[in-house]
Amino acid sequence: MQSNEIRSRFLKFFEARGHKIIPSASLIPENDPSVLFNTAGMQPLIPYLLGQKHSEGARLVNVQKCVRTQDIDEVGDNTHDTFFEMMGNWSLGDYFKEEAIKWSYEFLTSKEEGLGLDPKRLYITVFEGDENAPKDTEAFEIWQKYVPESRIYFMSAKTNWWSVGENGPCGADTEMFYDVTSEGLGDLTKEEYIKADQEQKVIEVWNDVFMEYEKKDGKVVGKLKQRNVDTGAGLERVLMAVQGKDNIFETDLFQPMIKIINNSINSNDEKAKRIVADHIRTSVFIIVDGVIPSNTARGYILRRLLRRAIRYANILGIDKIKIGELVDVVVDKYGPTYPNLIQNSENIREEILQEGNKFRRTLNNGLKEFEKGINPFILFTTYGFPIELIEELAKEKGVTIDRQDFDRKMKEHQDKSRTASAGMFKL
Ligand code: SER
Repeated sequence: MQSNEIRSRFLKFFEARGHKIIPSASLIPENDPSVLFNTAGMQPLIPYLLGQKHSEGARLVNVQKCVRTQDIDEVGDNTHDTFFEMMGNWSLGDYFKEEAIKWSYEFLTSKEEGLGLDPKRLYITVFEGDENAPKDTEAFEIWQKYVPESRIYFMSAKTNWWSVGENGPCGADTEMFYDVTSEGLGDLTKEEYIKADQEQKVIEVWNDVFMEYEKKDGKVVGKLKQRNVDTGAGLERVLMAVQGKDNIFETDLFQPMIKIINNSINSNDEKAKRIVADHIRTSVFIIVDGVIPSNTARGYILRRLLRRAIRYANILGIDKIKIGELVDVVVDKYGPTYPNLIQNSENIREEILQEGNKFRRTLNNGLKEFEKGINPFILFTTYGFPIELIEELAKEKGVTIDRQDFDRKMKEHQDKSRTASAGMFKL
């Protein structure tokens, strides 16, 4: 089963259970200055989770584009990426745990309507309780209708409490994991399950959040007006499970990119290949939603992703023609689902190639400069190295850089340029 089929099965499954299909919002949040990009399907729905009426009703379903860059250093392992699609269904004060769990299980395991996954490879976690909310025995009991008790584990708020930030809706969650090993792990004790999770032998495929609390300034302050369900299943990870792969880069979403890379170079550096593929794919999606590389906010995140991709492409020997081909296959692969990629393909390609050209001009000289001794301020201002890339290079060399000193110098530099341009306008 390919990615297109899975997206459409998900939407149909929940439509048949009374949900209205809503389109993916842009990656750029509307009316939410707290984040640069949408990081979860629920983000555009926060006002409705807090009680505002949604025009499409109380049951919604969609596949939302998301960008998360906090785990950028993990990209290259089996499961991390900076762009992903989150399949989600929501109850805005309508159904609660009973239906949410039943439908998650049915979608995961049904051969006719869902993914047809093997129920014997499923593991479940539920919230063990703390000072904010009681132990979730209700979810535990509901799960026992579908999964043996020996594969359901109580876990702390560290993993089984979900909130969007310091302010907003939150609640206990129940997470579903799937065994992606070829041999099959069978029954696991809680300790064995935790180890299997760390080793990426079981992967999280879905998270059902029972959103009934509210957080203010980092503290849970009480219950919301309504009890909501907010679920999220990462398409790439679901694909791993369905397609029997042990990493996201072998699924149909990434394969066309990895093939181009493998056909053009001869290297075993899988991590570098995965970083190039991931960062180019994310950049395509950020650009189509209207961002261009720059030195501030979203534009800086984009610049950082592209320059990091170029650095790894350089190590691997991937030239700009191949980068162009990588952009084209992302557009081909995702175009049927997101037609604005096709309409804007020329522009996306141009932005990515231009940024690559700019950075290629200074990359090698900057690396030579770096070898002489690390001056982050010079590398940033003269050679255009994003500070995070400088930190990464320094780490590879086994040294740390003084970030505070860098930030101070940057501030002085910016203040000076501001004074200079302010002076100019006075004339
Ligand atoms: N908001 C939850 C998550 O991001 C479930 O969708 O995991």
